[in-house]
Amino acid sequence: MRIYLTDAGAIALRDPDDFKRLDVLVDPQPQERLDRAIARIGRREDERHVRLCPSVLRFLSGHAGDAQWEAGFQAMLDFAASRGWVDEAGMLRAHITINTEDEVVSVDDFKAAMRALPAGISAITTGSGEDVAGIIISSLTSVSASPPMIGFFVQQTASARAALARTGKFVANVLGEDHQRIIQDFLGAPQGPARFAAGLWRESDQGLPVLADALASIECDIVCTEVLGTHDLIVGKIRRTTCRQSNPIINFNAGTHRIAPALEPVQ
Ligand SMILES: Cc1cc2nc3c(=O)[nH]c(=O)nc-3n(C[C@H](O)[C@H](O)[C@H](O)COP(=O)(O)O)c2cc1C
Repeated sequence: MRIYLTDAGAIALRDPDDFKRLDVLVDPQPQERLDRAIARIGRREDERHVRLCPSVLRFLSGHAGDAQWEAGFQAMLDFAASRGWVDEAGMLRAHITINTEDEVVSVDDFKAAMRALPAGISAITTGSGEDVAGIIISSLTSVSASPPMIGFFVQQTASARAALARTGKFVANVLGEDHQRIIQDFLGAPQGPARFAAGLWRESDQGLPVLADALASIECDIVCTEVLGTHDLIVGKIRRTTCRQSNPIINFNAGTHRIAPALEPVQ
């Protein structure tokens, strides 16, 4: 098995059923980010080794409690102990392997590909009173039907990020043709009540801003936040929805578009 510390900040376990090998694959990344990742899985021993916490491996494997996997894992721990690779605290010694095969596209190529993706536009809102906050996004996505969950990605530099973390809740308001002014205000006005000057905003039972004539308003509690490169993935469990028939708008090729009438169904 192999723990993978990606330069996106994510930690994954590859090949959890391979008990013959254990190392830590590391994408080249700033020392501070790597130190934070290593602290989440154990501790650094020296330049080329880390000490891993077995319970972290069991957690990341997704197989903890599975009798066959547990037997293989225990055999691996016993073998490591017989070789002197387990210290008195039960921490496992593992090599660091630097990932030299991590070719990625440029930011420009990434943006060009993403401009080709048509996506709905939503206003994420959070906070209440003078502390209301919001951000325009096109990354809203369905996550799970049961429990019902949606998610979106927010830049770590976005001014709404702190309010989202503080409130622990958000409303995803799906925007339509009548909401151009709201988009302008969210993109141009300072964070706070100024962003909510236009539009039919009401308060949810929790005190969060809900757009009364949105195509859908989806009220959520945040259940997961994952740092991924420049953005945070924020996943919310849906507590309440309100839907309304109206004309949607989409973001495509760096512009806002209407949707054309539906095509004839394919026979
Ligand atoms: C159509 C459109 C879609 C956007 N989608 C996202 C998104 O999914 N995530 C995100 O963090 N920012 C997105 N942005 C950028 C933000 O709306 C905003 O401009 C940026 O986060 C910084 O603004 P602020 O800190 O003033 O809110 C989008 C902007 C537009 C115009």
